[in-house]
Amino acid sequence: MAELVDALGLGSSIIRCEGSSPFWCIMQFLQYTDILAGKISDEPFAELEEYAYAGIEKRESLGDNPYASGREEWVCEIPPKFEMWLGAIINTMCKLHTEDAGWYGVEHSMFRIEKMWVNVMSKGDQHFPHTHNKSLYSFAAYIDVNDGDAPFYFIKDNQGTPIDIDSRSKGMIMIFPSTMIHTVYPQQTDNLRISVSGNIGIHFDR
Ligand SMILES: [Fe+2]
Repeated sequence: MAELVDALGLGSSIIRCEGSSPFWCIMQFLQYTDILAGKISDEPFAELEEYAYAGIEKRESLGDNPYASGREEWVCEIPPKFEMWLGAIINTMCKLHTEDAGWYGVEHSMFRIEKMWVNVMSKGDQHFPHTHNKSLYSFAAYIDVNDGDAPFYFIKDNQGTPIDIDSRSKGMIMIFPSTMIHTVYPQQTDNLRISVSGNIGIHFDR
């Protein structure tokens, strides 16, 4: 994914998301897509990583339809710094919640991660095509990934496109509309592919 972001040739969008230096980050829309991709800032990523491994250890089931869910998919608590970082990024760069889309008065502090889970994919595991409901934006963030790991695959305008995931994808995130159909190809290698996904809504009472 790093290569795909680098290959855009559009110049990096460096934005100040929130607060002090750990919140500086580089995010870009992948060309011809609605997917915002880039590196998670160090501090929120360290927190996310910690919460992801805590979720793996706790092994609390999501209770989803087994056909839609991975074999090892566990509840992940919401990391507060990461949630704030994500809200600031989305508020600055995405469009679904803006006046252009008919939403007025949305501020970065109103974005909330509604649900979050950690995926551990072993050889042969895959995710079938799906969308996420009860949210506006969704994300996938990469905690521990290796070369040859299963690509993320999305469908737009009846066309499917894989996004390669390799060792450089660690610490990266993709943010996309919850209605976007996506899937993960079968994991081919013996490595564990660990990622965190979640859904984001807007709360006007915040
Ligand atoms: Fe998903």
